[in-house]
Amino acid sequence: MRAWRVHELGEPADVLVLEDLEAPEPGPGEVGIDVAAASLNFPDVLLCRGQYQVKPPLPFTPGAEVSGTVRSVGEGVDPGWVGRRVLAIPNFGPGGMAEQTVASVASIHEIPESMGWSAAASLFVTYQTGHVALHRRAHIQPGETLLVHAGAGGVGSAAIQLGLAAGARVFATAGGPEKVEVCRKLGAEVVVDYRAEDFVDAIKAATNGRGADVIYDPVGGDTFDRSRKCIAFEGRILVIGFTSGRIADAPTNHALVKNYSIVGVHWGLYATVNPQVIADAHDDLVRLFDAGKIDPLISQELDLGEVPQALDRLASRGTWGKVVARMH
Ligand SMILES: NC(=O)c1ccc[n+]([C@@H]2O[C@H](COP(=O)([O-])OP(=O)(O)OC[C@H]3O[C@@H](n4cnc5c(N)ncnc54)[C@H](OP(=O)(O)O)[C@@H]3O)[C@@H](O)[C@H]2O)c1
Repeated sequence: MRAWRVHELGEPADVLVLEDLEAPEPGPGEVGIDVAAASLNFPDVLLCRGQYQVKPPLPFTPGAEVSGTVRSVGEGVDPGWVGRRVLAIPNFGPGGMAEQTVASVASIHEIPESMGWSAAASLFVTYQTGHVALHRRAHIQPGETLLVHAGAGGVGSAAIQLGLAAGARVFATAGGPEKVEVCRKLGAEVVVDYRAEDFVDAIKAATNGRGADVIYDPVGGDTFDRSRKCIAFEGRILVIGFTSGRIADAPTNHALVKNYSIVGVHWGLYATVNPQVIADAHDDLVRLFDAGKIDPLISQELDLGEVPQALDRLASRGTWGKVVARMH
């Protein structure tokens, strides 16, 4: 089977090598998966660079989420899984950028026939993060206001849809007129091109000076700093990621004076600490998908061979929505 592997760390297009390998066999508690689709995520870029919080030993295959069919099971796993359509988080190392992979049985979830492979491969990391962040961590309420930064991105576009599905008024920022249009089409009411203008005044104007109740921030750096200027009384700033490359410092006196919360979100940790949270979120996401309330924005479907260049585009702000590699 074909798989992308990283032998030395660096930019994806420089270090990924397409190899012909033996299919990985599932160990105890694992399943083998014939991958149908693998979606790209910013953490794949960080993994290639060696900047992600988890550092698999070299050589490894990146790829954090896939959809596919279970083809084999390891010791202790119900053989009834074989042949079922699933979405999965592959083990770190074998990874999803391959025609076959392995995953812990705890990290696979069955998908309905109504869901296509590309949608399924896009409905795990970004939507789970959005669901857990907005509902479990921020307790978002219908009628509240939500500002999503980098709203045209993978994580951002999912958060816009989930915010609307939760009954919130949704605002967004995005880099450049095309991405602004993407956010508008997703249903964001006010969208600011934050590379061209400051978003603070626009958010205050849209909220009668109050600011946003919830701010979803995958960007960090200056974007986080400015978010503190337009967060509402009893607002929650969700710390999702640092695509800007800078981890901001938060003055705690400011949080006290303005009475807001800075809420960390590490969705992946639920897999070990409280997997029921992920299972419950999956059920709700499938329900929302079947009800037509969420539908992953897939901007591009690629052949497996095109993955490295696509990851470079993702790293340099050149993509929107989800980019998905199709194996067949
Ligand atoms: N906390 C969690 O549990 C969790 C889970 C999943 C992902 N994440 C994090 O969420 C973030 C987004 O991931 P994603 O896969 O959805 O990526 P993405 O949004 O598809 O791509 C990143 C976006 O970040 C924006 N950006 C702003 N400044 C940037 C810069 N200097 N360089 C590159 N991009 C910049 C760009 O949008 P504009 O051009 O519109 O600015 C870019 O399109 C990542 O940091 C990822 O690690 C966190």
